[in-house]
Amino acid sequence: MPALFVLGYWLVLCIGCEEKVTDMKKFLAYFIPIVLTFVVGALGSYIQGDALREWYPMLVKSPATPPAVVFPIAWSVLYLLIGISAGVMLVKGDMSVLRLWLLQLLLNFLWSVCFFALRSPLMGLLVILALDVVVFAYIVYASSRRPAAAWLFVPYMLWLIFATYLNGYIYINNQKSKNVIVLKTNDTKISLPALPYAVGALAPVMSEETINYHYGKHFKAYIDNTNRLIAGTPYEGMGLEDIVKISDGAIFNNAAQALNHRIFFEGLTPVQKVMSERLQNRIISDFGSIEAFNRQFVDMAIGLFGSGWVWLAEDDNGRLLIVPTKDADNPLRHHLNPLLCVDVWEHAYYLDYQNRRADFVREYMKLLDWDKADARSKYI
Ligand SMILES: [Fe+2]
Repeated sequence: MPALFVLGYWLVLCIGCEEKVTDMKKFLAYFIPIVLTFVVGALGSYIQGDALREWYPMLVKSPATPPAVVFPIAWSVLYLLIGISAGVMLVKGDMSVLRLWLLQLLLNFLWSVCFFALRSPLMGLLVILALDVVVFAYIVYASSRRPAAAWLFVPYMLWLIFATYLNGYIYINNQKSKNVIVLKTNDTKISLPALPYAVGALAPVMSEETINYHYGKHFKAYIDNTNRLIAGTPYEGMGLEDIVKISDGAIFNNAAQALNHRIFFEGLTPVQKVMSERLQNRIISDFGSIEAFNRQFVDMAIGLFGSGWVWLAEDDNGRLLIVPTKDADNPLRHHLNPLLCVDVWEHAYYLDYQNRRADFVREYMKLLDWDKADARSKYI
């Protein structure tokens, strides 16, 4: 749709502009509004895309919501078009479009303040309605004086109608929800999953004492903290993966650590597993050989500075990657699908190995349940 807007816009622009841009003053008048609006629009909308999902979580997974990437593109195209029209009309000696452009920037700024700073979708909706009236009045006025100038704003009017619908949708659903999330993945608390093996089954690589602390204390604390922190917030009732994707601060730290430990403990087995032929082929294709993958994975885990994780993950094209993450970070935050991980926080190995992280990591490779990597993959 934005591409069609651009195409239509340029066609009208070509019809409406009889003059050629010949000197630097006219060139700058044309160029500066385009660059300014593109940069401001792209940066602003990139930030707003994340804020939308965080502050108005009824939009998460909603079929009425376009992917987050649409917002930066749409806003950039919008500002680009307005900048072009302002530049063209400046070149033609007509200040009316420039004045409208400035008014539009002011109203958009007010909308951002209402919607994001004050978090009032009602005030945001009122500002958008005001913008509808202003732009529509301009089109009616300009069409009587210079039809081409009026046509330049028709795509923007169409965009505003969609923006009005979106703001109305958010306002109505926000009223209904009253801080209760509309789309929930389940109605129960996030719970500590049972280990798929006996507490002492991973010894001597991981002793029963280590499991008791790591699983029974650390992992459980992250689960309990997450449930405590999300109680009464829009995150309550959401799945752990969704919380990790959109949250920040203490909620993110605890939810991500809960998810990381779930993947970690689920990915271990006391019975040494052989990789499926399919997974072997993928690893050989992406790393050269099984040995090369093992070497890179172990080296990455040994060399990671401080606390963190090393992951086997896959991207949207099914390509396998070794991904180090710091602290509580998870590949989901980087648009990657986590398959297996090693925990290199000291609490994972200190009781059994003290400061010998390298020994822990090399032994840990014997416990990996490769079937779980297959099960988590979207490409097998
Ligand atoms: Fe841990």
